Amino acid sequence: MSASSLCSYNYEDYKHTADWLLGQTDIRPKVAIICGSGLGGLANLLEKKIAIPYKSIPNFPQSTVEGHAGQLVFGELKGKQCVCMQGRFHFYEGYNTATATYPVRVFFLLGVETLIVTNAAGGINPHFKVGDIMLIKDHINFPGFAGQNPLCGHNDDRFGVRFPCMSDAYDKDLAQLTRQIAKEQGCDSLFHHGVYCMLAGPTFETVAECKMLHLLGADAVGMSTVPEVVVARHCGLRVLGLSLITNAVVSDYDSERRAVHEEVLETTRMRTEELQSLVRSVVEKM
Ligand code: HPA
Repeated sequence: MSASSLCSYNYEDYKHTADWLLGQTDIRPKVAIICGSGLGGLANLLEKKIAIPYKSIPNFPQSTVEGHAGQLVFGELKGKQCVCMQGRFHFYEGYNTATATYPVRVFFLLGVETLIVTNAAGGINPHFKVGDIMLIKDHINFPGFAGQNPLCGHNDDRFGVRFPCMSDAYDKDLAQLTRQIAKEQGCDSLFHHGVYCMLAGPTFETVAECKMLHLLGADAVGMSTVPEVVVARHCGLRVLGLSLITNAVVSDYDSERRAVHEEVLETTRMRTEELQSLVRSVVEKM
């Protein structure tokens, strides 16, 4: 099936991609890292790396957004075999959620056990500052409310159960380890726990929407991650989620500020080293 099709994939599609990838490298990753906007530099930390462009991978979707390189990078991080997605697939690019999460099931078939997701997010919690890092403790799946859940359709039991639990989506031990490492690295003051809310995008939020999200208990808002986490949990992967607060959302009609993608990219450049060293240490110690 073509990667741009709006239909779901079947088990053999994922298996074909996984088997093809296993033929390209001797790396057998236990950890997969999905790099958010501007955070793809994480992949450059890998040793013995081999980069495979999405366009050469059978069935793989293509990434279109600025700041996303569009390749899978296999290699070792602190001696642990990993695969990094440099560039992810977003609903707002026109992919349905099954297509946007295609790589996660491929990772599962490669033998990955842990998924680390990073993203850029707008800060809703008024205590958050631009450049802070939020450990995702839970999410709100807004596209899911509108029927855009990647698990809609036929359930293949080889991936997971029909009705997967999501109240334990984010692994508490990994979160605790990350918090401890942040403390050791002296970036505890940047650090928060919170709820990530996904909206489909690509529009940034209106003032009324920001007020609503705040009332609903969201601490940060973004346009990714949740479908990937849903698919990862369905097939039993442990998940660690990290949001970089790249901008404060505009929730005041008198504000002169406006959300722009350039600010998102600028903040990721500013914090990329802290995030990279955090993730590297988590992988080392997990
Ligand atoms: N809103 C939605 N997505 C985002 C934002 C935002 O303010 N910042 C980074 N990604």
